[in-house]
Amino acid sequence: MTTAPQSLRLRLYPDPVLRTRASEVVSIDDDLRARVKRMFEIMYQHRGIGLAAPQVGVSERVFVVNLTGDRRQPGEELVFINPEIRDPRGECVEEEGCLSFPDVRLDVARPELVRIEATDLEGDRFSIDADGWLARCVQHELDHLDGVLFVARVPMQSRLSIRERLQDLERAYGES
Ligand code: NI
Repeated sequence: MTTAPQSLRLRLYPDPVLRTRASEVVSIDDDLRARVKRMFEIMYQHRGIGLAAPQVGVSERVFVVNLTGDRRQPGEELVFINPEIRDPRGECVEEEGCLSFPDVRLDVARPELVRIEATDLEGDRFSIDADGWLARCVQHELDHLDGVLFVARVPMQSRLSIRERLQDLERAYGES
């Protein structure tokens, strides 16, 4: 992947990159570290707590999280490379948003507890038993790597309730 970090920008629905299954990362190098740094910048700029590489136009299996959403707390930053989710348990419904869908909020049902395994920027494999917002966030972001959007995770009735907003986004994308 040779994309210059500075050229990365937030991609909005219905950009087709958001519906594409992302490729495994094969090398953890300075280029990847630069892209990850840029992803955090874009995430903070748009006041998010998680961002997946396809959301900045890069179809690779990487996402970043900082549940505080606060750039002054870099110790809370997490990077997940080639992540996998195991042992989903329970279920809970919470309201979610997504930076690729400005002004869309939807109640989404997801497993309450998951184990997430991934590689970090040093190339080491790690795993976290996640609950609460971390569990929800990693599931939302991992969906992005599979080209699955949160609007596809809700009942038809909820989808109908945001139809006009989606049409607005489609129109704006067509004009961009
Ligand atoms: Ni999202």
